Amino acid sequence: MQAWKDYMTENKDRFLDELLDLLKIPSISADSKYKGDVAKCAEAVKQSLLDAGCDSAEICPTDGHPIVYGEKIVDPALPTVLVYGHYDVQPPDPLDLWESGPFEPVIKDGNIYARGSADDKGQFFMHVKAFEVMAKTNSLACNVKMMIEGEEEVGSDNLGIFLENNVDKLKADIVLVSDTAMISMEHPSIETGLRGLSYVEVEVTGPNRDLHSGVYGGAVGNPINVLCDMIASLHDENNHITIPGFYDKVIELTEEQRNAINDKPFDLDEYKKDLDIADVRGEKGYSTTERTGTRPTLDVNGIWGGYTGEGAKTVLPSKAYAKISMRLVPDQTSDEITEMFTKHFESIAPASVKVKVTPHHGGEPVVTPTDSIAYQAAAKAVATAFGKDPIPTRGGGSIPIVALFEKTLGLKTVLMGFGLDSDAIHSPNEKYGVENYFKGIETIPYFHKYFAEMSK
Ligand code: BES
Ligand code: MN
Ligand code: MN
Repeated sequence: MQAWKDYMTENKDRFLDELLDLLKIPSISADSKYKGDVAKCAEAVKQSLLDAGCDSAEICPTDGHPIVYGEKIVDPALPTVLVYGHYDVQPPDPLDLWESGPFEPVIKDGNIYARGSADDKGQFFMHVKAFEVMAKTNSLACNVKMMIEGEEEVGSDNLGIFLENNVDKLKADIVLVSDTAMISMEHPSIETGLRGLSYVEVEVTGPNRDLHSGVYGGAVGNPINVLCDMIASLHDENNHITIPGFYDKVIELTEEQRNAINDKPFDLDEYKKDLDIADVRGEKGYSTTERTGTRPTLDVNGIWGGYTGEGAKTVLPSKAYAKISMRLVPDQTSDEITEMFTKHFESIAPASVKVKVTPHHGGEPVVTPTDSIAYQAAAKAVATAFGKDPIPTRGGGSIPIVALFEKTLGLKTVLMGFGLDSDAIHSPNEKYGVENYFKGIETIPYFHKYFAEMSK
């Protein structure tokens, strides 16, 4: 499509500048200090939708951060694509590890460095710009609805409610999401699965006050020691999770499915080198690709207690804490796993301590079909833009709302992401390739074109 190419070439610099402007807004959903910035970002997204050619765009307030919604209905007879993305970002901590400010985007060696560059501002904004390309060249093949939320990184609770209250408004034929990664620019791929999530916080209480670790040490249960023992017992020597019933609902893949998953280009040495680790570690009997894409996990995300300040303080603390995430696969469910964890954790606590388990957010795992028109359209769009057929893969991350698109709206999702695992999302120095950004903008209009053609 020459008109698309011409429009993109003419507006390339502006497309990049506009993304950089968006990246300057610290829309950190987890930290209430940034509520005003999150709102400001929503305003900027709304304006970008109007400028790009939406007939209408609005800020939908929620009990948390607002949802931005815009649409352009070209012809009710055409198929409708519902684009989903999130404009909120993870906190940038630890700040001192950033080489440039997390909200002062810089372009270096072909990458845009900023919090949210890949997750997900750089990716959802490709849809805004691709929509602009189609709208301004009068070539929209589908109706477009865009729903960009501000609470993905904190669990999307309010978006779940929004879906329930807006089933009609959100009527569509497919949900299109760019919030995942590809293998590489040389090996484009499309994720066909996301893991679910159970996230809990545990509190272990020993004595009713902090104690002198000499006077009482050795005689009283130290909650940090006990917590470490309890956490260590959650995996056996094969790195299987020991919670009774944990694997009951896990669907074991067939040999054929496993082979297909292991067939994806993956270089273990590169992987280790990139992370500066001498070896990987995971569940016995499964490859690294399977471990992240198809197996459930349990990981401590944070652990604290006692004295962590400068120097040494001899103290036997009263309390110890940990935040624990469990990644889930079909057909595990977040509520069941959270309950199993809670029961088990309480049952393994020695009498010398008390434990409290507080559930945080959760989400259900999903597998998206590859035999659908929408997947075929995405595969053809990627093939057109990259000159190579994409490989279907299973991603390890979670996007909790995707399961609800199906449950509440009856809609399937296509995960056409353009990030790379090396983008360091959620880490210091998050980046997104300038080339990935423009390749995405180039690919998306083809999706709309092929999806409309194939839906006929
Ligand atoms: N975009 C990610 C999820 C993702 C990343 C999927 C890479 C596949 C590949 C998303 O923003 C995210 O970080 N989700 C959270 C879940 C949420 C409830 C905090 C996650 O996976 O930890
Ligand atoms: Mn994301
Ligand atoms: Mn994220």
